[in-house]
Amino acid sequence: MDVFIELNQIQAEFQKDLDLASDLAQLDQLKIRYMGRSGSVTNLLRKISSVQKEDRPRFGADANKLKSEISDFMSRKANEIQVGSGRKTIENLDVTLPGRLPVIGALHPTTQIVREICDIFVSLGFSVIEGPEIESDKYNFEMLNIPKGHPARDMWSTMWIDNPNHSDTNSTLLRTHTSPMQARFMESTTPPIRIVVPGKCYRYEATDSTHEWHFYQIEGLVVDKGISFANLKGTLYEFAKRVFGDDRQVRFRCDYFPFVEPGVDMSISNFKDSEGNRPIKGKDEDWIEILGAGMVHPEVLKSVGYDPDVYTGFAFGMGPERISMLREGIDDIRNFYSNDLRFLGQFV
Ligand code: DAH
Repeated sequence: MDVFIELNQIQAEFQKDLDLASDLAQLDQLKIRYMGRSGSVTNLLRKISSVQKEDRPRFGADANKLKSEISDFMSRKANEIQVGSGRKTIENLDVTLPGRLPVIGALHPTTQIVREICDIFVSLGFSVIEGPEIESDKYNFEMLNIPKGHPARDMWSTMWIDNPNHSDTNSTLLRTHTSPMQARFMESTTPPIRIVVPGKCYRYEATDSTHEWHFYQIEGLVVDKGISFANLKGTLYEFAKRVFGDDRQVRFRCDYFPFVEPGVDMSISNFKDSEGNRPIKGKDEDWIEILGAGMVHPEVLKSVGYDPDVYTGFAFGMGPERISMLREGIDDIRNFYSNDLRFLGQFV
């Protein structure tokens, strides 16, 4: 058959097929039928070698025109089909239905309690600073009066970082507490100091309902001339009342931490009311320990170049997740890190 006649036939067939196509899937079929690798237009173009030499330019031009017409028609039709289906959706739209609320995220419960605690101390005149999670032996232990081989190191099961380039005293680790920032901060400044240091800590420990291998701590440090244990008690009492309520009492008992002397732990009261209920859910004890504290050890002051006869200070450290667990009645610390939306959603 003459290629020019064939070309006209293809054009006419295409128009008919196009009229019949009513959805996008059918349009795709058409595309394959006409423009695909063995589609009619493609086959037609292959015949150019059989066309007489003088007719070839005209044939080429006509065939190309047909190709671009076909794709123009198809995209116009595709548009019509889409607009048509859009119109149907609009007809079905019930504008009186209540809207769907977007899902809005919220701060993680750990972030919430960390910020709440820091805000309390900021209102008492403290500044918030942060420090590195990868620490050196020097700041995590040595400068805090915990030299190598000291049995107190066993209090902090440590994750050491393999680094063959570090000498022994500079060996690196994941900080086991936020206390190293006491030394770092004192070293870089002169008193008066009033800081809190929130941050992530790590311990080489099995997890259970009260232990995580990673958790937050908030460290506090106050150093100036004439700071006494009365300042420690007053500050921490105020803090406990703001977090747990005005009717809370606090109790200090001696405890041992190498970087303070004397060292204490502070508990909050959890007495039964007249109906026999306790304010802290799930804890059947009169006193519940919430933090460790003490007067900064003279050796620590000396290690940062302060004269312990001139300056004194107090320090404290607490686990904000534990504080949140006590106040909210959460019985498993692992909830904080398991990313279960049923847990997290309760803190929105
Ligand atoms: N760093 C201690 C720990 O991880 C907590 C602590 C206790 C911090 C007493 C202090 C302090 O600053 O004075 O167990």
